[in-house]
Amino acid sequence: PQKAAKAAKTARTASTGPRLRSQAWFDNPSNADMTALYIERTMNFGLSFEELQSGRPIIGIAQTGSDIAPCNRHHIVLADRVKEGIRDAGGIAFEFPIHPIQETCKRPTASLDRNLQYLSLVEILYGYPIDGCVLTTGCDKTTPAQLMAAATVDIPAIALNSGPMLNGWFQGERTGSGTIVWKARELMAAGEIGYPEFLKLVASSAPSTGHCNTMGTASTMNALAEALGMTLPGSAAIPAPYRDRQEMAYLTGKRIVEMVREDLKPSDIMTRAAFENAIVINSAIGGSTNAPVHLNAIAKHIGVPLDNDDWEKHGYKVPLIVNLQPAGKYLAEDYYRAGGLPAVVAELIAKDKIQPAVTANGKTLIDNCTGKFSSDRDVILPFSKPLKKDAGFLNFKGNLFDSAIMKTSVITPEFRQRYLENAADPMAFEGEAVVFDGPEDYHARIDDPKLRITAQSVLFMRGVGPVGYPGAAEVVNMRAPDYLLKKGVTALPCIGDGRQSGTSGSPSILNASPEAATGGNLALLKTGDRVRIDLKKRRADMLVSDEELAKRRAALEAQGGYQFPPSQTPWQEIQRAVVGELADGMVLKPAVKYQKIHATFG
Ligand code: FES
Ligand code: MG
Repeated sequence: PQKAAKAAKTARTASTGPRLRSQAWFDNPSNADMTALYIERTMNFGLSFEELQSGRPIIGIAQTGSDIAPCNRHHIVLADRVKEGIRDAGGIAFEFPIHPIQETCKRPTASLDRNLQYLSLVEILYGYPIDGCVLTTGCDKTTPAQLMAAATVDIPAIALNSGPMLNGWFQGERTGSGTIVWKARELMAAGEIGYPEFLKLVASSAPSTGHCNTMGTASTMNALAEALGMTLPGSAAIPAPYRDRQEMAYLTGKRIVEMVREDLKPSDIMTRAAFENAIVINSAIGGSTNAPVHLNAIAKHIGVPLDNDDWEKHGYKVPLIVNLQPAGKYLAEDYYRAGGLPAVVAELIAKDKIQPAVTANGKTLIDNCTGKFSSDRDVILPFSKPLKKDAGFLNFKGNLFDSAIMKTSVITPEFRQRYLENAADPMAFEGEAVVFDGPEDYHARIDDPKLRITAQSVLFMRGVGPVGYPGAAEVVNMRAPDYLLKKGVTALPCIGDGRQSGTSGSPSILNASPEAATGGNLALLKTGDRVRIDLKKRRADMLVSDEELAKRRAALEAQGGYQFPPSQTPWQEIQRAVVGELADGMVLKPAVKYQKIHATFG
């Protein structure tokens, strides 16, 4: 069958060049029965023989927007412009739904569904007559899920995001998605606002259609889709309601038809160089700590080696030059007006940080962004005068885990003073572990004075990785107990095998792999153990003897391993059985061997 598929691909039709995979359904005299069946039912929405049998590319539009996925709902409108672009370029659009994801509503966590959306798109792209696809990205997990699917199937694909919401405002100040929740909670806890004002304040951050307007995981992942080359240049930052976004939708529709004719596939675009570019860019924009999980996953599906060492090697020394919340003060509209991603990339090109990797428009990222510039230096800063130096992630190892990342640029001066500058070694600190097993345990006990948390404690959150808390919860960033907050101690170091929200600014060591639930040493840690974190050596260790650890390991095994709550749905159970660690992208392990599968079609 592989040979046949190859032959089918290279055979030419009169009108358009290479034979398209959709013609195996719609124009295949050697299988007349099935062709007739495919055609009669597909035509029933009004298509003609002429359209289906003249070698016109069939372009899928993977629709992620719906009433339960409001961050992507604008795609219902944008899809009309995408279709016009597809038509004008000579293609035919087939819009179809895939499994919806919405970050803030899905329980227990939206990241449980990233791999489900991935699966749903893989099955459609592989099993239906589709020659190329527009991926409608937006909300956090929808972008990586679709890029992962495009990587697995490897037919031409291009991403278009719904676009960030307009800036939120409250009493003359910008209110940003996610970041306002942390702030409003503090105000409510201090008694300055009540519940209705709290809700109003948070709602003010969402003034229009679109995805989050801060540099949280949504804006990060869409920026990285553009950085990888999987969108048209300048696409990611356009606010959802702007006219420019409608225009971009049209151009994206036109371009995917050409990509099919050029056979420009995800594997041509998402190369090792493209991933390295994306890592550099993630530091410059102040990207989310979820980015390594998702990018490592996409890389796994396309077959490019990539791990957290690469994140440190290529990303750590890159400065933060985008002044957006949560790291800075502005929001998406300001960022777009200042030039968006092309202006950021232009700064990096000038410092020789970007490699020439081909993008969806057929030109390289360097071609696309050279000569772009920031029109507002307070929003997109010069490389030489950044908001923060060394804005990337460090990759930690030790006897607590094999890999966990830390964003050191969020360490506050107060924290540095308390932990690092008074320590014997200014790059290392020791503290006493306080261990929580999941968010419920943490909420129940954090303010309990019996725990005796001090300003030098280190908080641990375990049991919240991909298996322990299906999908991995965003709960590693923990606040200090009330009695310390009142003394002005705002941030304690937090370490855990889960994730943290892209809109949070905690100095955490997170995404620890292996997680406690799959046998990681975090499961052996006890409250009261001393731990040592060495920023220079990138080590995180519990100062517990090997003999003692062996004893604890034996005791843990005797009780059947680390205990975690049962699954609540079939998918939770299925995913838990086959999912990998966060450091490896939290992919479905059996899925990774299916690469470039459209070549096996036939
Ligand atoms: Fe969907 Fe932020 S909650 S983009
Ligand atoms: Mg999030």
